[in-house]
This record gives sequence, structure tokens and C-alpha cells, in this order.
Amino acid sequence: MKLDVIVSLCKRRGFIFQSSEIYGGIASCWDYGPLGVELKNNVKRVWWRDNVYLRPDMVGLDAAILMHPRVWKASGHLDHFTDPMVDCKACRRRFRADQLDATPWIHYCPATKGNKFEIPGGEPCKHCGARRTLCPACGKGELTPPRQFNLMFKTFMGPVEEDAEVTYLRPETAQGIFVNFDNVLQATRLKLPFGIAQIGKSFRNEITPGNFIFRTHEFEQMEIEYFVNPSDVIDGRPADEVWHERWIKERLAWYERYGIRREHLRLREHEKDELAHYAKRTADIEYEFPMGWSELEGIANRTDFDLKQHSEASGKSLTYFDEERKTHIVPYVIEPSAGADRSVLAFLVDAYREEEVRGEKRVLLRLHADLAPVKIAVLPLLKKRDAIVATAREIQRRLARRWVSAYDDTAAIGRLYRRQDEVGTPYCVTVDVQTVGDTERGEVGDGKVTIRERDSMEQIRVPITELETVFRELLTDGVGWSAVRARYPAVTS
Ligand code: GAP
Repeated sequence: MKLDVIVSLCKRRGFIFQSSEIYGGIASCWDYGPLGVELKNNVKRVWWRDNVYLRPDMVGLDAAILMHPRVWKASGHLDHFTDPMVDCKACRRRFRADQLDATPWIHYCPATKGNKFEIPGGEPCKHCGARRTLCPACGKGELTPPRQFNLMFKTFMGPVEEDAEVTYLRPETAQGIFVNFDNVLQATRLKLPFGIAQIGKSFRNEITPGNFIFRTHEFEQMEIEYFVNPSDVIDGRPADEVWHERWIKERLAWYERYGIRREHLRLREHEKDELAHYAKRTADIEYEFPMGWSELEGIANRTDFDLKQHSEASGKSLTYFDEERKTHIVPYVIEPSAGADRSVLAFLVDAYREEEVRGEKRVLLRLHADLAPVKIAVLPLLKKRDAIVATAREIQRRLARRWVSAYDDTAAIGRLYRRQDEVGTPYCVTVDVQTVGDTERGEVGDGKVTIRERDSMEQIRVPITELETVFRELLTDGVGWSAVRARYPAVTS
């Protein structure tokens, strides 16, 4: 599947728009529309529920984006958070030196009277055998030698730019957790091992952003810093190593729990020479995105590096008193660090399906019900019948108190179902003549509506009075569709 298919669905149905589009857009910045904001909030909500509310060993934090500039010196970001970059002397485009070989390149081939070709990254020209030496984008300019380029966005705090202190937009949320380690410990009296979770915006002046919301300048992270006593041993092994493995398993299972197919996920261990300066071991969870296997989440063992650095730089002790050994220790940290936007992209890509139903193409998003932007759509079969419309609106109003639900009467029923399938709404409720009856003919309504399930397209007839119970089972209590369906008469269309 091509990424363009998802990009176009996202724009058409109001998930994600190009930022500042009416001004021609700004590169690699995206805005979440009415359905996108629901989807992203749901991703963050289930992450927070599973990692904070459902775990006695975890608490939450929301630290400021702007931090003291010395944080970034101590963390190593000022000195090490860099990418090698080269510039084209002709067109002024900028590239990551370490990605040049994989980039497709433009070549004006001397063996074919200077004809222009686009050649896949790393391959020579088929006609003259030349390899790329010039700018891959314009094919003409020479490239500068590589220079280290810091990815942090600089800004100024204070009323006058010249006098103001330089500071940075945080490039990761993690540092806000480390500098608050002692505050949280004193406030909560938690015992090791325990974790602090945080969701928030991060900013990186990426040299090569792209692939829609995969790599952007501004993005949201969902990070956990899980503190472990390095002197502890579990089953004969150092506790930090055991907890690292537990978190890798837990995080892989999390993506599967919310619908990502296992065959589209894999683990990749960082090679020794690739490890960040603070890491003892890092494993990435990769997803098979349309542009290939790429990182979805990194899970690192950051050792005691960060707490020690901040302790030294600030002069404040960031230790934990080990009651058993009667000594102060600096905990090790296991860090599962996920991107909220990247997760949204992976969930969308994995949910996207095209099917043929009765000779027609059906596009659907098989999103997990917890992630679906709209849980229930209430649809009147005939919008000209006042009683049907009034009943449908009343049902939608009642359901909206508990679940995000929509009312739509702007097309015929088949079209309305297809629209809801395309945005991943798991259930539709249809109100028809049978529901309300026909007063002119003296017919009394049966007070029942049709519920249609998105993936199977199966339909059942349910009394309006039982709707809230049924949806509580399906959307809150985790009762499966087949168990609910078995209790009600099927509707065949
Ligand atoms: N605190 C560790 C850390 O920030 P990272 O591997 O640089 O580690 C963690 O980032 C996650 O944040 C990535 O796996 C990815 O999901 C997300 N992420 C990083 N840079 C991003 C960017 N430019 N755009 C979107 N998401 C990004």
C-alpha cells in the first residue's frame, strides 16, 4: 500500500491537514482535524490508562517544554545531539551525510548527450557507470564537507533578544522526568522499581523530515522512565536487564493489543557502534510502514547516566535510599520511548483495508474500538419522516453522554455506512419505519433499531431501551460482538 492513499484519506475525511495550507503549507508540519484529534487523543488515552492507571508501580508527570539551558549541557544534547550534514553549493539543499548513499540521485549522463536520469540510491548509472559525487537533488552542485548540525531548536527567553537567555525547545520529554526524580520520590514515597510516565510535545530541527507524520519538526512523545535498583538480582540476573526485557515484551504486546498485526512488527537490536552515548542496550520496535521497516519506539537501558549527570551539574543529590543495604544508590533507568504521531500513522496504515462487497469497493479502517474516533453513528433510514429523525437524534444525544457518537442524514443509508466504514466507526445504529411505526396507517412502532457491526457488516435488531447496556458491554466491558449478537435476532439485508 502506498503512503499517498493514507495521506489522501486523512485529508479528505478530516484526520490530518498540511499546516498553514492556505499560505502554501510549511514543510513537515501537520494539523490534526476533527477525526484526527480524536484518534490521537485515544492513542494517548489508552497508553496512559495501560501504563499509569493500571500499574501500581507507575505515576504521571507533565513537565514544561522550556527548561533551564544547563539541562541540555548536562544531558549531553548540546554536545552530542547532532547529525552530520552536507549542503549543495548550487541549489543550497541540505542532506544528512549518513543518508546520502540511500537517496535517489539526479544524473546528467555524458554517455547519452547529457540526458537527465533519476537513479536509485547507491546504484551507478546504467549508461556511463558513474556513481554519485554531486548533489543528489539538482545533479549539478558540489557538496560541502560534512558538518555537525545540532537538532535542537534555539529560542530566547526575556523581553529583549540580545539580553535574553538562550534556551531550547526540548528535543525529548525524558529530561523533564530526570530533573523531577527527587520531587516525585519525595512526594509519592514510591519504592524501587517504579516508573514515571509523560506525554508531551518535543521538537527537532530534523535535516530530512518527511513521510507524512513519520518524521516532523514538532511531534508528541509518550515516554516512560522506569527506575530500577542496579544492585537487585532477579532469577540470578541483574534487575535492569530483566526489566529491560519485560518492557520490550510489554510494549510489543501493547501494539498488538490495539490491532497491529504481529507480522508487521519486529525488534531490532542496536549495534554497539550505534548505541547512544548513554545506553547499555537499546532495542527498537519497528513497524513495516509503506516506505519500509522503520522505528516506531525505542526501548533503551540508559543506566544511571542521566541522574548522575544532573546530580553533578546541579549539585543536588538524585539518589534513592536502599533500606535493605542501608546505602544511597543511583537507580538505573529503562526507557520505553514511543512517538504518538508515529503510532497514529502505524495504527492507520495497519487498519486500512480495501474489500469488494457485492461488486463494489469498500474502504474501511479496522481500528480497535478504543482507538476509533467515533464509536457509534446514528443514522435515520428516511430523513423526510419526522418521527424517524426525532428518534435518531434523541438516541444519538443519549449515547453521546457516554461515547463519542455522530448523527448523519446527508445521504442514502448505503452511502452513510460506507462513510462510517472509511473512518473506522465500529457500530452504526439505524432507525427505520418499523422503529417508530406509521400513524397514518395506524401501525405502532416496535421500539427497536438495527445495530450494524463494521468488520462483519452483520446486523441485529435491538430494543432502544437496551442500547446503553449493549454498548456498555461492547465498548466498555470488552464483551465480543459474537456474544452480543447471539442474544438478538439477525437482520438480513
Ligand atoms: N528519549 C529517547 C528518545 O527521544 P528517540 O528514539 O530519539 O528516543 C523516541 O525518540 C520516539 O519518538 C521514536 O521512536 C519516534 O516514535 C518518536 N520520534 C522521534 N523523532 C521524531 C520525529 N522527528 N518525528 C516524529 N516522531 C519522532
